[in-house]
Amino acid sequence: TEPLRLGIAGLGTVGIGVVKIIRRHAALLEARTGRPVVITAVSARDATKDRGVSLKDYAWETDPVALATRDDVDVFVELMGGHEGPAKLATEAALAAGKDVVTANKALLAIHGQALAEQAEANGRVIRFEAAVAGGIPVIKSLTESLAGNEITRVMGVMNGTCNYILTQMEATGRGYNALFEECGQLGYLEADPLLDVGGIDAGHKLALLASIAFGTKPAFDDVKLEGIQRIAIEDIRHAADMGYRIKLLGVAQRSARGLEQRMTPCLVPADSPLGQLEGGTNMVVIEGDAIDQVVLRGPGAGEGPTASAVMGDVLDIARGLRIATFGQPATTLSEEPAAQTGLP
Ligand code: NAP
Ligand code: HSE
Repeated sequence: TEPLRLGIAGLGTVGIGVVKIIRRHAALLEARTGRPVVITAVSARDATKDRGVSLKDYAWETDPVALATRDDVDVFVELMGGHEGPAKLATEAALAAGKDVVTANKALLAIHGQALAEQAEANGRVIRFEAAVAGGIPVIKSLTESLAGNEITRVMGVMNGTCNYILTQMEATGRGYNALFEECGQLGYLEADPLLDVGGIDAGHKLALLASIAFGTKPAFDDVKLEGIQRIAIEDIRHAADMGYRIKLLGVAQRSARGLEQRMTPCLVPADSPLGQLEGGTNMVVIEGDAIDQVVLRGPGAGEGPTASAVMGDVLDIARGLRIATFGQPATTLSEEPAAQTGLP
């Protein structure tokens, strides 16, 4: 059987997580897809760095564009990050060269996702990004496949592990969020620019992607009303706790009389609710639809294993020949009377 050949650009937290899964589970992956899944080439900035796993079996490319367009690469796996520069250039080059793309890059997709999806479609390719939203939680697949029979009425949730870690640790330990950055770095949660995390921008990117899939619209990150957690003090957290609440960076996307409303802001949630009980890097995404009512998905939203797990789900779909597009689905038709909105879970 023909192997599925991957070119991986980016060998940091997520990239190395993917390499480890492929090395650890080679036989399992082949059994599940009916073909070997192999890495042919990799790329990162520093060819000399010890990354804790052997990369000697893979060709090394310094230039991600050269990696993305190699003849022996079927799927370009983009795990560098950034919405401009090499991630964008190499993704475009891969699609133009007839490769499928798997990425964890929410910034790239929230800003250029529509154009990239159109380029993929024009070339008969797919661009998949389960890992870009809520790490290891299969939220995109839930929307595009399992819940595809619903008119989605609302999506919401806690979608940034760094912010949830910082807020819950501030409460537990009394330390300020600056002091907690280092721990988030060690856990592999942080974006290259942590201001994206604490500023709510990373979570805003994720909400824009989810909303576009849920409501059949173009990703509209510029329309997300954003506020980060930088101004939250320990006193705010304590006062909230005294009244039975916790502060969460909560995203909500829903249709309203004014159109699609998207907000990613710190909110009070009841401490004894599922959202209120989220600790550490855990994420929770709530999807509401006219037939299903409400589904609550909870799991690790960041880190090496969980994020690599989501990347591999997309890779294996491609290996199996499943080519479901995510953007570019027909827009949902809105009911005259939206389904009754339930409260926060
Ligand atoms: P990371 O640990 O900082 O790794 C980034 C990798 O990209 C590094 O190996 C780096 O090379 C390489 N790289 C950066 N710029 C490059 C360039 N110009 N040319 C070639 N290689 C380049 O980042 P990460 O945490 O793995 O995140 C990767 C992507 O996944 C990002 O889009 C991020 O938003 C997304 N993501 C991350 C998580 C998470 O929990 N970490 C979860 C979901 C999604 P060097 O190692 O040589 O410097
Ligand atoms: N920096 C992100 C977070 C990584 O903390 O949630 C996962 O997307």
